[in-house]
Amino acid sequence: MTVPSHIYIIYGSTEGHSEKVAHTLHDKLPISSSRKSLLTLNDFILSECKDTEARLIFLISTTGDGEFPENAVLGWKRLREFSRNMSSKISQIEYRVCGFGDSNYRNFCHSSKCLYRLLQRVFVNQGDLTLIDDAIDDDTKISQWITSVVSWIKELEYNRRWNWITRFI
Ligand SMILES: Cc1cc2nc3c(=O)[nH]c(=O)nc-3n(C[C@H](O)[C@H](O)[C@H](O)COP(=O)(O)O)c2cc1C
Repeated sequence: MTVPSHIYIIYGSTEGHSEKVAHTLHDKLPISSSRKSLLTLNDFILSECKDTEARLIFLISTTGDGEFPENAVLGWKRLREFSRNMSSKISQIEYRVCGFGDSNYRNFCHSSKCLYRLLQRVFVNQGDLTLIDDAIDDDTKISQWITSVVSWIKELEYNRRWNWITRFI
């Protein structure tokens, strides 16, 4: 059974919408602050992530004409470079992606869709993609997504504790 060691909440945001949701999620995650980090995609360096069982949660909006926000574009390029140079897929690490966009735009949620496709090439696990559409979704969908992520982490925490206990029986 897998054990989560560190949880990274990674966002890319222009106007602060996905950043705000990232902060809310960070506050709600039922684990000690030493085991969770909140950072921009530009500040996230996968090759330096020594935790082989990390959980990555991406919240990425789209700007311009289907582009990554400024605080995510370098991180995106770094990940793309990483995927080109890797020899085999990474197992164990699990991830979720939440894309923020507006379907009135031609390239709806383009950046989060690109990121998700890339992560599927980098990791063995298939992950999960949720899209939030400014044009039709209200806060309910965001709350539901947060609740599902919190449940996912709680389940992993439960398994972690249970594994630890069973070592002594
Ligand atoms: C200048 C501008 C360009 C945008 N371009 C796109 C786009 O190409 N595709 C899309 O799905 N949404 C687009 N959006 C919508 C944003 O992605 C959406 O409002 C999102 O919730 C913003 O989140 P953020 O504040 O975290 O950046 C654009 C918004 C603005 C203001």
